[in-house]
Amino acid sequence: MNELQKELKNQLTKFRLQEIEPHMETDDHAEHFRMNIFTKLGELGFTGMTLPEDFGGAGLGYTDLCTALTELAKSSVSYAVTVSVSTMVQATLNQFGNEKQKRLYLPALTSGHEIGAFCLSESSSGSDAAALKMTAKKVEGGYLLNGSKMWITSGGIAKTYIVMARTGSDTSAKSISAFIVRDGMEGFTYGKKEKKMGWKISPTRELVFSNCFIPEENLLSSEGNGFKIAMAALDKGRITIGAIAVGLSERALDESVKYALSREQFNQSIFDFQGLQFMMADMATEIECSRLLVMKSAKDYDNGYPNPKLASMAKLKSTDTAMKVSTDAVQILGGVGYTQEYPVERLMRDAKVLQIVEGTNQIQRVVIARNLKKEHTNQ
Ligand code: CAA
Repeated sequence: MNELQKELKNQLTKFRLQEIEPHMETDDHAEHFRMNIFTKLGELGFTGMTLPEDFGGAGLGYTDLCTALTELAKSSVSYAVTVSVSTMVQATLNQFGNEKQKRLYLPALTSGHEIGAFCLSESSSGSDAAALKMTAKKVEGGYLLNGSKMWITSGGIAKTYIVMARTGSDTSAKSISAFIVRDGMEGFTYGKKEKKMGWKISPTRELVFSNCFIPEENLLSSEGNGFKIAMAALDKGRITIGAIAVGLSERALDESVKYALSREQFNQSIFDFQGLQFMMADMATEIECSRLLVMKSAKDYDNGYPNPKLASMAKLKSTDTAMKVSTDAVQILGGVGYTQEYPVERLMRDAKVLQIVEGTNQIQRVVIARNLKKEHTNQ
């Protein structure tokens, strides 16, 4: 970490311990998202880190954002993922939006006054994202959106939604376009809120569009570019999901070591049993591998060499590690690890979905394998 990253990390450690940690148990139980926590993160400059200063961002890089998300995730994966998805939306608007769109939507997002959401999945199109059915029919002055989106992170609390819908009549990826949709637009309503195993503070909702009129100026980039916009967004998002997984894993290891040192059985601390030492040594090693992959892919991105293969590797490795490490943490804590008295059961629940969102880990392997083929065949 450079000096700036150390400073960002220290600031966030203080913030999460004072502002987030005291509410975690009750808020996780009540599934309660606190907008004031997000706004305060914005005041500290954490909600628009990678965006240019012109639009209210901090002008920093993905290595800085990953450092921050890793630290935030130690207390709350839910707030970390809200920041990460909202930043992905901002990056998409910044990359593909025109000047007017950027001026209109970015400042409220970068400052943390508003949250952004990314809307690709539908009930019948998850991994096969290009099979989406939602339509955007061209009408005078704009488009009519019809259909629904599923499993939308920050659905209901976000104000700006990037929504992928089909503008062409065929079923190919080339007939998908991306739209900027605002909360409150006529014909846009919220469907059911999902009851989830983890990520309980971050709401996940269905979005329903019924003859929702979207003015022409809310089309992002041009017609037919929506799938590429979505894929480019996910290339960045997958790195940040990896960073969140590293933070979760670090917390799980920390809780494991602390507990193992303090718990005595057979007249010695359980840390001194070699069986547990090996487990914790493996956990620490896997976490370091994950962190290096995440930071390497973030650095490549910052240096102007975005690498989707590496981003997928980072997401795959770090989220599989988070699942393994958090499960082992529950094992090390034993009976109390399975109760809500300690945070490790929450970490284990929160880890699972990291292997699913922003492309399942099977899809990450597809992306890695396709890139391997491309590298070897120049196709
Ligand atoms: N960047 C830019 N363009 C890309 C791209 C990328 N990374 N990957 C593919 N494309 C382009 C291709 O070049 C191709 O364009 P051309 O025809 O002009 O060459 C076009 O997109 C179609 O590509 P494919 O034929 O490779 O598409 P596919 O249908 O085979 O799908 C896939 C590829 C990788 C499986 C993709 O569907 C995928 O990533 N699926 C997973 C979806 C996903 O991650 N969903 C997550 C939901 S969002 C979420 O979870 C966020 C949240 O809220 C937490």
